[in-house]
Amino acid sequence: MRSKVRYQLLDQAGAPRNFRLLWLFLFLVACFVAYFLLSSPSSSGVFNPLKPDARNPITYEQVMKDLRNEIDQRNVIINELQQDLEKMELKNDLKNLYRRRPETDHVDCGRILSGDKNYLESVSGKNRIKIVENDQLDMSCAAIMNRILPPGSNLKPLKNGVAFARIVYADYEMIEKQVQMSYHPQNSFCFAIDKKAPSQFHERLRAMAACLPNVLLLPDEESVDSAGHNINSAHYNCMRVLINKPGWNYVILLQNHDLITKSVYELEQVYEWLGGANDVEITPEAGRLDNKFKWDPKSLKMFRNESGINEVVLNGKMKFAKGAAQGSLSRAAVDWMVRTADLTTYIDQWNKGGFGVDEQFIQSFQVSSDLGMPGHFTDGCLKQGKKTDFVSRMSQWKYGDSNACGSKTVRHAICLLGIEDFRTLAAYPNLMFNKMIPSFDYAIVECSAELLHNRTFLGQEDHKLEEDYYKNMINVLYHKNHLDPNFKLDCTPSYKKWSARDYPL
Ligand SMILES: *[C@@H]1O[C@H](CO)[C@@H](O)[C@H](O)[C@H]1NC(C)=O
Ligand SMILES: *[C@@H]1O[C@H](CO)[C@@H](O)[C@H](O)[C@H]1NC(C)=O
Repeated sequence: MRSKVRYQLLDQAGAPRNFRLLWLFLFLVACFVAYFLLSSPSSSGVFNPLKPDARNPITYEQVMKDLRNEIDQRNVIINELQQDLEKMELKNDLKNLYRRRPETDHVDCGRILSGDKNYLESVSGKNRIKIVENDQLDMSCAAIMNRILPPGSNLKPLKNGVAFARIVYADYEMIEKQVQMSYHPQNSFCFAIDKKAPSQFHERLRAMAACLPNVLLLPDEESVDSAGHNINSAHYNCMRVLINKPGWNYVILLQNHDLITKSVYELEQVYEWLGGANDVEITPEAGRLDNKFKWDPKSLKMFRNESGINEVVLNGKMKFAKGAAQGSLSRAAVDWMVRTADLTTYIDQWNKGGFGVDEQFIQSFQVSSDLGMPGHFTDGCLKQGKKTDFVSRMSQWKYGDSNACGSKTVRHAICLLGIEDFRTLAAYPNLMFNKMIPSFDYAIVECSAELLHNRTFLGQEDHKLEEDYYKNMINVLYHKNHLDPNFKLDCTPSYKKWSARDYPL
């Protein structure tokens, strides 16, 4: 359709001049004919349609007929050229379509997105598609670049990019896919590998980091576990590396199987709406704090330079809260955590605990407003007995009831996401979804990648970003207004929280 229109435009622009040439040509022919009729009545014997012939005198009708024939022949050529052009443009469009891996090649993601429940059955439940891992994956730099970088360099520059700090241990092909999905030359990707990860996984990540300048791999590795040990230090070490990279104004902390579900342009827009506020889940500290340690900034050696710090703050006990280790921090917050503060002792003390030791890190700095981390929040809502939601991550906690999950599968009390969650993922305001396991369902990963590709490179808008949601989050309003003496903290959001919405869609 599009190429037709463009061709017609081209044709229109050319038409008046062609007609002018035609009339000029006709006029010249007429002069020529008149000249021969008047000056040279004799025949040369060689047939020439423009030369008058005594036995077959040329007529005006004959000239017109010949010209019409010629025009018809030219039109045939023009039609052929136009068809070639359309074929070429179609091929370019095909090149712009997302290429899925073979095992998911037959999946019609668009049909699932549009809500075709019968079709969904053919790729879910017992028909669920797992990844078929490629042991022979070409890890040359050329091959890595070919898989990750977008075809052509048709990414628009960003006002502000994003940094990703991710702790990984498995499923390299999915990790690489995630870099592809969020790839932009201005974005940075930091990886901390779990020491226990297999050697092939290590080698592949090293190859990716050696190939792409904005992929950073931490040199030191520690073991992470489900109790959260060493998670905070891995994220913190990524922050230390990332702060030296320009181009980003928010960092997002992630784990292996968290999938970013907003395009690079959408992330840029959402973070602009957050306007410097950190996005961190806040729930009450759950009695995990070990009081045999001291938790005041002085004992924690938290400030690199204590001389400007208020004594009451320096010697007072910090405040604590709990929440997901994932979240979004402004660049100013990261700069503070790394350059103004030194959080090593704080992190070490928590790391000596037993369970959920990673869930009090960003939360506690977020609610300890006295410490002055940029983009912080307050403990005001906790004091009112209210939790504060965050939008960075979606996970569905279902204790025991796997039927409440889209995929009807639950692991460690969180739904495993399957292709049944695709519509939810496309519609919800969250920036990442937890969790997707490639050996459980890979169609959800590939369809998500296609969705982001369509939004980024084909300009498709399947769901408009909910501007009101992001701008009116409690932490965002607090950040924007808390220095105003008339500001009143309202811990109930004005919008319908994602966690209170229908699931699955
Ligand atoms: C992506 O765009 C292509 C081309 O318009 C379309 O066929 C496909 O269904 C789209 N996929 C999704 C997930 O929107
Ligand atoms: C420490 O902070 C004080 C007061 O803010 C400042 O005057 C001093 O130069 C700082 N010292 C260093 C080493 O940065």
